[in-house]
This record gives sequence, structure tokens and C-alpha cells, in this order.
Amino acid sequence: MGRFPWTARDVPVPPPEAEADNQLPPFIEARNLTRRFGGITAVNGVNLSVAQGEIFGLLGPDGAGKTTMLRMLCGLMDPSEGEARVAGCDCSRETDAIKDSIGYMAQRFGLYGDLTVRENMLFYADLFGLAASDVEPLMLELLRMTRMEPFQQRQAGRLSGGMKQKLALMCTLLHHPRVLFLDEPTNGVDPLSRRDFWDILYRLVADGLTVFLTTAYLEEAERCNRVGLMHHGRLIRCDTPDALKRETGEEHFEDVFVALIGSADA
Ligand SMILES: Nc1ncnc2c1ncn2[C@@H]1O[C@H](COP(=O)(O)OP(=O)(O)O)[C@@H](O)[C@H]1O
Ligand SMILES: [Mg+2]
Repeated sequence: MGRFPWTARDVPVPPPEAEADNQLPPFIEARNLTRRFGGITAVNGVNLSVAQGEIFGLLGPDGAGKTTMLRMLCGLMDPSEGEARVAGCDCSRETDAIKDSIGYMAQRFGLYGDLTVRENMLFYADLFGLAASDVEPLMLELLRMTRMEPFQQRQAGRLSGGMKQKLALMCTLLHHPRVLFLDEPTNGVDPLSRRDFWDILYRLVADGLTVFLTTAYLEEAERCNRVGLMHHGRLIRCDTPDALKRETGEEHFEDVFVALIGSADA
């Protein structure tokens, strides 16, 4: 498989463990990021940085503030306080540049059920102002990589849940983003398709992409380089899965999660 066009990797990818003495500027950074809705503080003073080439997972119970966090990083929602930068741009002031650098796959990504796989991809290419002839080579490469080539003439409404998610992922990649933001990308997808989806993510990261995702699946959090644990709007931990296991003395991530949430509540 040829390398993807977003491989313009200007900096070497540091091992995530080496972050403390990493001299590179963070690729995704939040400083005191806060968002209130009336009396609710959905995201509360979050500080966080992610290096280029990382797979970072935001984990937390429903209502923890994951989606709100993601929407601010994508420039879709202004923070009440604090600031965020992605790929060198301010998320609330440089929204056009942010849109060019990121791919955002919302929790309910808008696919057109009566359009085919190919037509959905062309529709999204058009939204990004890309000509069909220009995206054709990348489209073919993505269809091959996701093993969706045989289904390109199938209506999106007739795809399985796993295939729909792969199609949504392909649609978010057509404009060559440098960072992918995925909001619970494998929610409701069967375990085999979920593993398939992760294999694709690893290949994209090997080709230079940075991935920031939210998940409610604990086994999925373990596949990330680092995990941020959110609870009631606060980032209560941010570390490698192994470090979180060591801290809690737990072997299974489910127990790690319960222990950390429990101690935050206490
Ligand atoms: N647009 C909104 N208006 C009012 N409250 C909201 C809005 N979006 C999110 N919230 C509230 O903010 C909190 C965090 O929500 P959300 O970011 O969706 O969490 P998560 O994605 O972790 O489930 C919840 O209490 C939710 O009800
Ligand atoms: Mg959410």
C-alpha cells in the first residue's frame, strides 16, 4: 500500500512515555479549557497536551464532558474560559485553518442512506471543495485499505454498523487532515468490526496521522498510547494505560476505571 498524502510528517514521533522531556511543541493543547451551559459546567479547567502521532483516548462515563471537549478542540464550540490549540492554530479564532487540518467524526455522523458508498464519499469531497478527479486516487486507496472496495456501489443505508463507521471514517479523511477527532467511533459496533476499525487507525497513525478519540469501551482505552479520564467535566487522570494500572494496582482496566472514578468521588 502506498503512503497517504498526509505523511508530510515534519517532526519525528516521540515515544509517548518520553513526553516529560519532549522538547516538541504539543500538537493538541488545552489550557484551562472550560465550558458552561447555564448552571452546568460540562468541561471544567482541563489542561492537556497530545503529541503528533499519538492515539489519545478520552474515557469517561456518559455526561462526563467528552463530546463538549471534542467540539471545542474542533472549533465547533467556543470555550467559556481557557484556550485550545490544534496543529499550531487557535481553535476559536482560526476556525478555517482548524477545519483544514482536522477530520471530525461526530457521534452520529451524517451519512446519506439512499446514496451509495462512493456517492457519499464524493458528496463529502465536494463539501470540502475537492474535485472528484482529484480525490479518486485517495478514494480507491481508502476503499482498499478498509476492504470496502466490493461495496462501493451499495447504498449506505444497507451497510452493517461496522461498514457504516468505516465509510464515515473514509469521508473524514478525504481532505487529508493531520488530526482525526472521533467521537465514540465504534459505539454499538460488534467486537470484530471494532478490531477491524482499530487496525485501520493504527495504519493511519503509522502514516503520520494523530488521533484523538472518545470512548466508553474500556478495552478500547487500553489500545491508546495515553488515556485521559474525564469525570464531571474534570480530567482526573492522564497517563499511559500501563501507568494507570500501576497506580491503582489493578490488572484489568475495568477495575482501574472503577478505582479512579471511586477515589475522585470520595
Ligand atoms: N448544548 C448543551 N446544552 C446544555 N447542556 C449540555 C449541552 N451539551 C452538553 N450538555 C451537558 O454537558 C454535560 C456533558 O455532556 P457531554 O459533553 O455530551 O458528555 P459526554 O460526551 O461525556 O457524554 C452533560 O451534563 C450534558 O447534559
Ligand atoms: Mg458524548
